[in-house]
Amino acid sequence: MSALLEIRKLTVSYGRITALSEIDLSVGVGEIVAIIGPNGAGKSSLLNAIAGVVPAAGGSVTLDGTEMLRLPLEESVRHGIAMVPEGRHVLPGLTVLENLRLGATIRTDLAAVKADLEGFLDAFPILRERRGEPAGRLSGGEQQMLVIARALMSRPRLLMLDEPSLGLAPRIVGQVYDMITQTRARGVTILVVEQNARRALSVADKTHVLNGGAIRLSGTAEELSGNPQFEAAYFGLRASVDE
Ligand SMILES: Nc1ncnc2c1ncn2[C@@H]1O[C@H](COP(=O)(O)OP(=O)(O)OP(=O)(O)O)[C@@H](O)[C@H]1O
Ligand SMILES: [Mg+2]
Repeated sequence: MSALLEIRKLTVSYGRITALSEIDLSVGVGEIVAIIGPNGAGKSSLLNAIAGVVPAAGGSVTLDGTEMLRLPLEESVRHGIAMVPEGRHVLPGLTVLENLRLGATIRTDLAAVKADLEGFLDAFPILRERRGEPAGRLSGGEQQMLVIARALMSRPRLLMLDEPSLGLAPRIVGQVYDMITQTRARGVTILVVEQNARRALSVADKTHVLNGGAIRLSGTAEELSGNPQFEAAYFGLRASVDE
């Protein structure tokens, strides 16, 4: 499978704290790749560096051969990267429809934007039902679905999700993950980070265990769940590397 995203020796530091230390990672076209790891492992730093939200101290991130590091967030969106940050940031006073339209602000193909909007309302009926309501009135699960659909409105090639299951009841997490697998079926490549290891493993083609700023173990769900080193890789290290 050819790689869409290639990460080589990516390092992210905050002052004297090294959050990521020379990470190598590759995500194939059409894959779902999961990064799992405990609190402070460096998961958000990884997504933020790819998206251009935090600067990298070194290394390279290419999307389809184009270097993404040093591009600001808006440019990375233009190149096809969409990110759903942790915490379901809807604009609470705007309606569901208005929130969705905001995801398409970089696009000029307005007829296609309208068609995409209708497509998402068909695919995710709960959004159609609530389309005229302020997003702040939606439940946590509905808000998570809204921010994912909003990110898809930019027509990304790569969708990055930061802990989409955080704080949601298990049944709702199932709905959010159904949406993630439907999104892959539409041809979008997905990189998801989670503390919810079981859920991420269940949908991912490949999972990497990140801990202390480094990838400790990688494999398919089957390989990882049968691996005696899994628990040590996930739980066994201090959360960050202090220099
Ligand atoms: N803005 C920042 N300034 C200083 N240190 C930071 C900053 N953001 C993250 N860190 C540190 O970098 C390390 C990695 O943090 P990061 O947020 O990437 O981890 P995470 O895996 O996303 O954790 P969580 O599961 O809590 O979201 C941690 O030690 C954290 O304290
Ligand atoms: Mg995080």
